[in-house]
Amino acid sequence: MTATLSAPPAATKFSGKTKLFINNEWCDASDGGTFDTYNPATGEVIAQVAHATPHDVDLAVKAARKALDKGPWSRIDACDRGKLMFKLADLIESNAEELARLEALNCGKTITDSRGDLNGVINTIRYYAGWADKIEGKTVPVRGNFLSYTLRQPVGVVGQIIPWNFPLLMAAWKWGPALACGNTIVMKAAEQTPLSILRVCELALEAGFPPGVINLLNGMGETTGDAMVTHPGIDKIAFTGHVDTAKLITRRAAETLKRTTFELGGKSPNVIFADCDIDQAVAGSFHAIYFHGGQCCTAGSRLFVEESIREEFVAKLAEKAKKRRIGNQLDEQTEQGPQVSQEQLDKILGYVELGQKQGAKLVTGGKRGNDGKGFFVEPTIFDNVKDEMAIATDEIFGPVVSVLSFKDADEMLERANNTQYGLAAAIWTKNIDKAHWYAKHVKAGTVWVNCYHIVDTTTPFGGFKNSGQGRENGEAALDHYTETKTVTVALAKA
Ligand code: NAI
Ligand code: MG
Repeated sequence: MTATLSAPPAATKFSGKTKLFINNEWCDASDGGTFDTYNPATGEVIAQVAHATPHDVDLAVKAARKALDKGPWSRIDACDRGKLMFKLADLIESNAEELARLEALNCGKTITDSRGDLNGVINTIRYYAGWADKIEGKTVPVRGNFLSYTLRQPVGVVGQIIPWNFPLLMAAWKWGPALACGNTIVMKAAEQTPLSILRVCELALEAGFPPGVINLLNGMGETTGDAMVTHPGIDKIAFTGHVDTAKLITRRAAETLKRTTFELGGKSPNVIFADCDIDQAVAGSFHAIYFHGGQCCTAGSRLFVEESIREEFVAKLAEKAKKRRIGNQLDEQTEQGPQVSQEQLDKILGYVELGQKQGAKLVTGGKRGNDGKGFFVEPTIFDNVKDEMAIATDEIFGPVVSVLSFKDADEMLERANNTQYGLAAAIWTKNIDKAHWYAKHVKAGTVWVNCYHIVDTTTPFGGFKNSGQGRENGEAALDHYTETKTVTVALAKA
């Protein structure tokens, strides 16, 4: 491996807030419990964070309920909700560099990627701030002498459970539509990455959100998360994470019949036709799999390459992979930081072993990087992969791509769709007919033609099949944060 590894950083101290944020107050967990959070580049503990108990969840739900039912949140004008959100976006923008560094430190993403995330966060909050006073009902031409109209009202107290790969961006995707529609929020950040969102709660306080509108609990999924999922005072759960966790949440939320929306994993087919611009497709496919060390639900992890160019394509991809600069995430030169945790590192290396055992050809990578310090994995390419191998069917969530060869387009499409997932898909070709044919028939919530990972706050994002339920971003997300009420008025005779 020729990539240069920069030295691990000096230990970084964290001196910000680590408590629970309930009803605009910072408090310890009711049992005083905490958990450690790490810098994944070194494995060193950077802070101890309050671990919310079910009792704390209950306190947060009560605060959120009060803000909604009795408090100011349901009474303020919609445009004023929007103003508060614009204020929050401005404050995030003024503190963007600090937030980007904190996010990188805790999550392992490169400082460059982290700055990109912050742009997305600001855009998302502003986009939904603009929606706050544009959520309209309809007048409906009913039979009889009546006037019927619809009102779109908040779902209520929404529980939002987010993962560690894009902590602040996932928070923004969930806060944005929830706040615009007038809901109140109880959020749980991922246990791996609690820090940046704590800082944003400070900014929300500064922006002037009333008590109880935004509550943040940190903690484990099985304890804090489950207490949210089963709490009768939470009306909806919005979740991003693993498919199996979503299935468990569905079962656990059934008792209180909560609304649920899910954004889950993927094994996205990235298809390369021989008539593409090869260098552009190599660069795009490289970004598709290695962006954020493959820790992306949309990662282009199944790389279908037309057989006539496969050898050349794989050679060019491997050449780039070998040159990737892996290192400390806060180093400006770094292109790939550490994976988020020991658990993820073990999972990825386990799949590399399995891939070799099942007969795939390891072209490059496959090893732990940085001499065993921190959670680094080399960019990895497997060739000669068969559809039924574990590395072709399972979400690895790391920098590992499986190259699958094809000759016939119809057969390729059938194979591309032969997965439990349906989050994203891409095609590289200069032939417009092929591009639209694929876009129409591939089963995925997002399709990219000659590009990859283009996600914008204005466009709906979500999954077919086991990749999710509902949509985030765009106008589509508003449907999941409103209830529709029909009002019918008997009209007096003139
Ligand atoms: P996970 O699904 O366990 O965790 C995601 C969030 O759900 C975290 O906040 C966690 O605390 C919470 N959670 C976990 N169990 C819960 C429960 N029983 N009730 C309520 N909340 C619960 O995912 P994890 O363990 O972090 O990662 C495992 C795999 O999941 C990854 O390797 C990857 O394949 C996939 N994943 C997919 C993501 C995506 O963007 N779609 C994001 C993160 C993980
Ligand atoms: Mg888990």
